[in-house]
Amino acid sequence: MQIISGKPSLGRNAQAPTQGTRRAPGLRWRRVALATALAFPLAGLSPAWAQTASPDSSQTRLETKSAFVADLIGRMTLDEKIGQLRLISIGSDMPAAKLADEIAAGRIGASFNTVTRKDNRPLQAAAVERSRLKIPVLFAYDIVHGHRTVFPISLGLASTWDMQAVELAARTAAVEAAADGIDMTFAPMVDISRDPRWGRTSEGFGEDPHLVSEAARASVRGFQGMSLAAPDSIGASVKHFALYGAVEGGRDYNTVDMSPMRMYQDYLPPYRAAVDAGAAGVMVALNSINGVPATSNTWLMQDLLRKQWGFKGVTVSDHGAITELVKHGVARDSREAAKLAIKAGIDLSMADQVYLQELPRLVQSGEVSMQEIDNAVREVLGVKYDLGLFSDPFRRIGTADGDPVDVNAEQRLHRAATRDVARKSLVLLENRNGTLPLRKAGTIALVGPLADSPIDIMGSWSAAGVAKQSVTLRQGLEAAVRGRARVVYARGSNVTDDPAIVEYLNFLNWDTPEVVNDKRPAADQIAEAVRAAQQADVVVAAVGEARGMSHESSSRTSLELPASQRDLLAALKATGKPLVLVLMNGRPLALDWAKKNADAVLETWYTGTEGGHAISDVLFGDYNPAGKLPVSFARSVGQIPTYYNHLRIGRPFTPGKPGNYTSQYFEEPNGPLYPFGYGLSYTRFELSDVSLSAPTMARGGRVTASIAVRNAGDRAGETVVQLYIEDPAASVARPVKELKDFRKIMLQPGEQQVVRFEIDEQKLAFYNAKLEHVAEDGQFNVQIGLDSQDVKVGTFELR
Ligand code: BGC
Repeated sequence: MQIISGKPSLGRNAQAPTQGTRRAPGLRWRRVALATALAFPLAGLSPAWAQTASPDSSQTRLETKSAFVADLIGRMTLDEKIGQLRLISIGSDMPAAKLADEIAAGRIGASFNTVTRKDNRPLQAAAVERSRLKIPVLFAYDIVHGHRTVFPISLGLASTWDMQAVELAARTAAVEAAADGIDMTFAPMVDISRDPRWGRTSEGFGEDPHLVSEAARASVRGFQGMSLAAPDSIGASVKHFALYGAVEGGRDYNTVDMSPMRMYQDYLPPYRAAVDAGAAGVMVALNSINGVPATSNTWLMQDLLRKQWGFKGVTVSDHGAITELVKHGVARDSREAAKLAIKAGIDLSMADQVYLQELPRLVQSGEVSMQEIDNAVREVLGVKYDLGLFSDPFRRIGTADGDPVDVNAEQRLHRAATRDVARKSLVLLENRNGTLPLRKAGTIALVGPLADSPIDIMGSWSAAGVAKQSVTLRQGLEAAVRGRARVVYARGSNVTDDPAIVEYLNFLNWDTPEVVNDKRPAADQIAEAVRAAQQADVVVAAVGEARGMSHESSSRTSLELPASQRDLLAALKATGKPLVLVLMNGRPLALDWAKKNADAVLETWYTGTEGGHAISDVLFGDYNPAGKLPVSFARSVGQIPTYYNHLRIGRPFTPGKPGNYTSQYFEEPNGPLYPFGYGLSYTRFELSDVSLSAPTMARGGRVTASIAVRNAGDRAGETVVQLYIEDPAASVARPVKELKDFRKIMLQPGEQQVVRFEIDEQKLAFYNAKLEHVAEDGQFNVQIGLDSQDVKVGTFELR
């Protein structure tokens, strides 16, 4: 049996014997035929799944769905209803046989962390063959950046600024996951993160509302495909609603305190984008918002999500979050926690017992009404209906004769797709004197604790990815130069020599220790790397963070590379050989030393299954890098927050004109080390001035901003043209700039293209003090550039 056990998981597969019942091959088709032949509504105890064949679309479908669900609810006992509200993980306290029995008893409606058809089939059989009403169970899993094939982490996906690539990653993951019998993912994770200390920065798409919203839409499209009911689609449960990325101090699970204006303007749009794109689910965040935990937040789930946004899917609590309402200090005990959560609008309760234990008595006492229970049940059954589970509970599980012999078989992977996306996700931060691309000749010293680490290159939340199937940088480099150049490898250092940190990281990962240190003295490891460097023409050093350092519960107080790696780099630098840094990390690091000392720096995040090939493609110039940063890089942890779209202030710091009594830190230069939107190419691009189609925009009208981009180098290459807008005088202070649009273009050497952006009122609108979304009359500055800092400016007026 392939299960993912324990919490939180970095994405490991545990093996346990297969249990549960087997279905006869071919039964599925008899069921479907039966289902279509039967007329709705059926009386009595006939299987729920046999009652409709999910008619295709339109109003009729909605009416059929609600009639179907209402009929089913009408036939359910209270205990069966409560069972449908429970999402329980397989694990040591819930082995497969027990899970099957609980499902058969109608006490569990959805499960997560089983990742094969073979494992899910007996569980589904328990539901549709043994439970009284035969309501199918829903299978969920955390599929964030790939399923069997691991794609770059979301921060890497965002660095592509290519929404087709983001969609492709999600689509591929959906196809693979659905083929493993999974119906729903807890993704995309669209929490805006402006504090790199937060380890979950890696899971999101960065700091910008527009870019993250675009990625949210693309992901939902990818996961859900053309129709949720399609056998190769899975439901997307967008998370973590809401504002989880703004936890105070970047410390995971901490509180969030935020003005409504900032919420509406910057943090809520990505969730909204996912909802508008039709996300089937919303996972509710673990944090509180201005004192009220999201899990008991009626405003959040009822007023905002359901009423204002018109969300029609299912809400899911995060792991154990209902129980945690007691620790938050808003519920006296679990009884009150269950009451608060159901009343606020949590439909599915993840990984706790409280609904099971408390809801019956709460209903009996009249504190929770049957209507409130029914409202939640309706959403759970509704999503199962939309996923096509009632017409065929086995639509993603299939029959045993169709099961893959080996779930990890090579032919089940989508290597070409992930290699392509991974290449697009790489961001070239430095390239002095054309150090890159490297020649496939001579001797290359490859060093660093991440150069040959198949598990780290997958990144955290790597779903059902298997480390031994990922291509490390060492493998990629050796394959790229085979027969032409020599690669000398030395690990050089541990990721960290701090035993307490090693212990912490290994505790995060419950099955096998991931961080395994070389026990030799650090000096010996460094000496070995220096010997390798001395024989080489160039040194490539793969440094950064073990994947567990950028994960749930992995907040950091420092953004530096760990000391062991800093010492290694200093020794390599002292050899005088050209030094290329390949960074693998899940958050923006403080890279001051690297910027000053390395000859080239390539930010690769965690690139996934084909990482080593993708990075080699860029190192040798077989692919010209075009990734752009989706987050600002602070110079030091003390500068946080460093996000680019900060509000205007009364005493701004003016670069180049330092002065007392302006807003600055006096010990180091101000502003980010690398700005949002930044990334180099092996070619050079030149921009013309901005030209605007008119000096004024009438209400309801448009202005077109154009800029000519020329490839002034000698290689073909892509770049991302970025449109920012500033509203310099409004009724409230507005950001110095905000990304409103972008275009990725490919130019041949010498080629020029004019890029046009249509600007309408929507792009000028913002949430004012009354939370009205308005565009105010007056001047607007249009800023266009290839990053957020170095821009050309034009001006027009809205009248
Ligand atoms: C995480 C969620 C995840 C859930 C289920 C929680 O700890 O916060 O993002 O979906 O676990 O694995």
